This record gives sequence, structure tokens and C-alpha cells, in this order.
Amino acid sequence: MIDHGTIDRIIDAAHISDVVSDFVTLRKRGVNQLGLCPFHNEKTPSFTVSPAKGIFKCFGCGKGGNSVNFIMEHESLSYPEALKWLAKKFNIEVKEEEETEEQKQLKDARESLMIVSGYAQKYFTRFLWEENEGRTIGLSYFRERSFRDDILKKFEVGFAPDGKTPFTEAAQKQGYKIEFLEKTGLTIKRDNWMRDRFAGRVMFPIHNLAGRVTAFGGRTLTTDKKIAKYLNSPESEIYHKSRVLYGLFQAKREMSRTDKCYLVEGYTDVLSMHQSGIENVVASSGTALTPDQIRLVKRFTPNITIIYDGDQAGIKASLRGIDLVLEEGMNVKVLLLPDGEDPDSFAKKMGATGYLEYIKKNETDFIQFKTRLLLKSTENDPIAKARLITDVIGSVAVIPDTITRSVYIKECSRLLGVDEQILYTEVRKQKFKQSADFQKKELREQARKPVAPKPQVSSTAPQLTRMIIEEKEFLRFMVKHCKTELFEVEDEETKETHMITVGEFMVDELEGDDLVSENKMFQKIFYEIRDNLENKDFDPWKHFIYHQESQVSKFATDLVSEKHQESRRWKKSGAFTEDEADILDILIPRIVNEYKLRKIKLMMMEIEKAIDKVAANTDFDKIIELQSTYMNLKRAEKELSENLGSRTIN
Ligand code: CTP
Ligand code: MN
Repeated sequence: MIDHGTIDRIIDAAHISDVVSDFVTLRKRGVNQLGLCPFHNEKTPSFTVSPAKGIFKCFGCGKGGNSVNFIMEHESLSYPEALKWLAKKFNIEVKEEEETEEQKQLKDARESLMIVSGYAQKYFTRFLWEENEGRTIGLSYFRERSFRDDILKKFEVGFAPDGKTPFTEAAQKQGYKIEFLEKTGLTIKRDNWMRDRFAGRVMFPIHNLAGRVTAFGGRTLTTDKKIAKYLNSPESEIYHKSRVLYGLFQAKREMSRTDKCYLVEGYTDVLSMHQSGIENVVASSGTALTPDQIRLVKRFTPNITIIYDGDQAGIKASLRGIDLVLEEGMNVKVLLLPDGEDPDSFAKKMGATGYLEYIKKNETDFIQFKTRLLLKSTENDPIAKARLITDVIGSVAVIPDTITRSVYIKECSRLLGVDEQILYTEVRKQKFKQSADFQKKELREQARKPVAPKPQVSSTAPQLTRMIIEEKEFLRFMVKHCKTELFEVEDEETKETHMITVGEFMVDELEGDDLVSENKMFQKIFYEIRDNLENKDFDPWKHFIYHQESQVSKFATDLVSEKHQESRRWKKSGAFTEDEADILDILIPRIVNEYKLRKIKLMMMEIEKAIDKVAANTDFDKIIELQSTYMNLKRAEKELSENLGSRTIN
């Protein structure tokens, strides 16, 4: 834990342009700076840095944030890691807050496991290159498969000596505790015996995103069918198989740069593709792809191409992966290799240019993949064709984005010769079914759980983003101009006049009328400003852009960097052509009123619904009560509309 004072000092020192310009060449463009985005591939610069606001924003790929976010994204670091990275750059001493005993033990345990794994990797690698056994057995195996030395070194492969416990003994001699050797699975220990897990195997270390070794895959060199070809480290505190992709550490930069990721099955596939010059490749290591693995890819690119062997098993595996990837809102393509080839053999055969050409020519989107695959067996069979349509539409229905969905529906309609409207209806049906299935699953899971409270994050997350334009505009002005003096007001009792600020005015207007939005993000920002109105040192900009909750800081960044539809709307209506800061006394009341009007309209709709419901029960008292509220709202609406229409607000 880094203490707050240090965090503040780091943030103060880490000016956005200084941080970004280590990685991006920036040119001045008005008050901003412009460069080529490091997070996606582009030829014309759309990556903007605003030194005044302390943020970056790419209008091409949408990434944006403060200097800490930039380092997190660019260097693939966590929040505290990024802070430490910046502290080092700006020579700021980091004082860590005292950790609790529990935290310390957990961290120490994880760290110990990492240290043991790191030692093991170095041991296996040294053994491969320097010991006789390693060279004659391990290295010659890799050479026979034509792997180049630079590739073997890049992936830090190694060899585990054969025998009962040569590795365990060496490690213990170096002072590594048996407890950690056992927890990482490097040593298998029972009451009265132990042995090296990977004895006699060539070793593929598995790295985490920061490049540290957390686990291994070991391949046997015997052809004995009874022995597992690959042995993997067991699950541990530092290794969760379902959350790891082999090769990600070596691929991540190239994945961002090319904005694309190839997904293969095995360790050797990854190595061979690197050797032929294709470096944006990761492996799921033989298991079915998991949502966590897909999200890992998504951190670097939304475009994924699944490459699998052209045999039946490969096709099956591709099909399983497709829907998962689509559900994450990513673009998925499929490439089947000629029968009998795998990415490893094929890379060696084709070389880089040939391979890339083959990919370009043969990768297909999932619709084509599925239809081609299934059409073969459905010719002249209407029932089978109907099933095919249902199957393909099932995949379309899981796509979260409406526009992407409609593009695929068009293609589907063309390929299958079915009317678009019919496909839309089918999508609706399937979506309904999927959500019903989902609900059923949730219910079942709920029923299985005792009475554990639901985690908060997942239930509020979607609500955070759903904010109407009027709410956003309200917040934008509030954050931006909070401290500016707005106009004189007269105290009702003392009749004395004083200036109020934009922030005070906006808070009064909503709280007085009980009109604060139900949106959680809105409330968060609104109330944090309210609670700081008296605080002289409060800088709303800095406060929200560097907010500890990344969702808030992301929202604030988007809020201040959005190209404003609204502002253009103001201009078009002829309300103003000047700088908005000069006419806040006209703008702010107008924005407040627009907000209120929208809010009131929404409330009226709610009441209409409620009246309909009650009407069925003929509960007259309730109806009268609702109607009178409705009438009040209607009056308020009329007044606000007139105000807005006449454009003269005092
Ligand atoms: N795998 C595994 N355990 C096994 C077999 C396979 O964990 N018993 C995983 C490995 O990650 C392997 C991947 O599944 O890399 C693909 O398996 P396979 O195609 O059989 O191996 P290859 O990667 O082709 O290995 P090689 O080229 O060395 O035969
Ligand atoms: Mn292979």
C-alpha cells in the first residue's frame, strides 16, 4: 500500500506530456498535443494529449485517462505498479503503508512461490545449455525440431534432469524450502518419499503479464503412449490455469501494435510462429478457452483469429471458442489449416510471408465458417437447413453490439438466402431464450448458495454507464465550472446579497427539488462535489480525473474529452457563439432546467404506468394521489418548457 501523500506527490510530478512523450512523438496542435496512438495501429494521428486537463484520449480507439492510466495500459501494470513506475521516473521515494499481518503473509507466500519458480526456470535453462545431459537430450531434441537458439532463449525453455530428485536437492541446497517447492508442484512429496515432477522433460516456463515465471509445462521425450505428452504445474496461489494464456507476455506488444491476436493450441505452435516472424500469438494450452482468457486478450486487442488443426477435433474446438469470444464483444475469425497440419508444422513449411498470405486468404468470419461447414451436410434438406440457421443466429444473438449484429445479419441473409426480417425475428427469439436461460441459471445458482449477499460491483456496473445526455451535460458543467462565481443572490431573511458559485447553485437546485438522479455515477460525482463546496483546496478536475475508483476516473476523462454534441446543439440554436465560460449565467440555469425537464418527464411516465396498474384495482384514493402528483409535475413541466422556449432566464 502506498500512502496518500506519496500518491499525491507522484500525481503532481507526473505531467501527462512528460509521461507520454517517452513513448509517443507529440506535436503541438492548439492547446493540445497530437501523436500516433500507441494502443492501436494508425497512420493519421488521433491520439490527443491535453496538458491542461492532465489527460490523454485517442479518438481512434477510445482509450483515455490520466498519466497513471497511461502507464498501466502501456506497460500492462496494475495501479500500484504504475505508481511505483512513475515514482522511479520522477525520483520520488515511495513509502509503503504498513500492511496487516494477513496481507503480509499472503504477499510473502506468493512472492516465495514466484521466487522458487524463477529459480527453477534458471536452473532448467542452465541445465539445457550447459550440462551434458541437457545438451545431448534436451537441446538436440529442440534442434531436431529446427527451433532456433534465439527462440529457445526468448521463451526461456529448459530441461529437467532425469532421476528421482536431482532438481529438488539442488534447490534445497540453495536454501529453497520444501514447502514452496511442493506448493509450486515442482516437487511431489508424500509422507516418506519425494520426487521431481518434471524429471526428464523439456520445460516450457509460463510467464505472467509482468514476465515472471509462475508455472511450467513439461514435454516428455519418450513416445510411450502411456505417458502424458505434457505435464503441467498444478494450480497454486500464483497459477490459475483458466486465467493464463501461454505466450501473452512475449506477444502483448505486437498484439497492441497490429491490433490482432492469433490463438493456437500448443506451446510449440507459439514458438514456431514466433520463429517465422508472427509474434502476436498466444496458446490456450490444450484446454477449452475460458472467458478470463478472452478478457486477457481484450486488454490488448478486440480482434482475434482462432487457428486450429483442420481435423475434426480442431473444428470442434474452434466452434466452442466462437460464441465465448463473441459474447465478450470481440471480433472473431477462424482459420482452418489444411488437414494434417498444425500451426507449428505449417509455420515451418510456409515461413512468415507465406503464412501471413495464407491467413489473409483463408481466414473467414464465423458466419462463413459455420455456414460453409454446415451447408455441406444440409443440401436439399429443409429441416437441417432450418437447424443451421438457428445455430448461426444463436451466435449472432450473443453479440452485445447492435450495429455489429446487424452487419452479420445482412451477411447471413445473403449467404443463406433468407430474408433479413425473418433473421431479425429469429435473433429476438434467441436473445429472449438466452436471457431466460441465463435467468434460470442465476436462479439455480442463487438457490444453491446459502444466503450470501450478492457482490455489489456486478449489480451496479451496468447502471453506471447508462446516463442520459442531460445528466452528463449537467455533470460536465458542474465539474468544469464548479468554483466559478455565477451571480448575486439575495438572502430571503437578511436581504443581504452575496455571490454564489456554479457548484452551489447546481446543488441547491437539485436538492431543493429532490431531483437528484438515481444513476450511481451521477450521485457519486454530485455528492462528492457537494461535500467539498466549502473546501478551498478542492480541485474537481484533479479529484475526478485521478479518482481512486478507476470507473469514476474513466468516466470523468470521457466527460471532459468527449466531442460535445451538446455544445454544438447550443451553438446551432443560436443561443451563443461565444466561449461557454463567458456566459455561464445564461447557460447554467438553462442546463439545470433541461435536466429538470427531462427528469420530470421521466417521473410523469412512471406515474402514468402506476396509474394504469392501480386503475385495474380501482383503488381510488391511490389514483387521486397519483393524479395530483402528476398535475404538479405537469405544471412544473409547462413552466420549465416556457422558460427554455423564451430563452430569457433570470
Ligand atoms: N496438452 C496438455 N497435456 C497433454 C497434451 C496436450 O496439457 N497431455 C496441451 C499442451 O499445452 C499442448 C497442447 O495441449 O501444447 C496441444 O496438444 P498437442 O497438439 O498434442 O501438442 P503440441 O503442442 O502439438 O506439441 P508437440 O508439437 O510437441 O507434439
Ligand atoms: Mn505439434
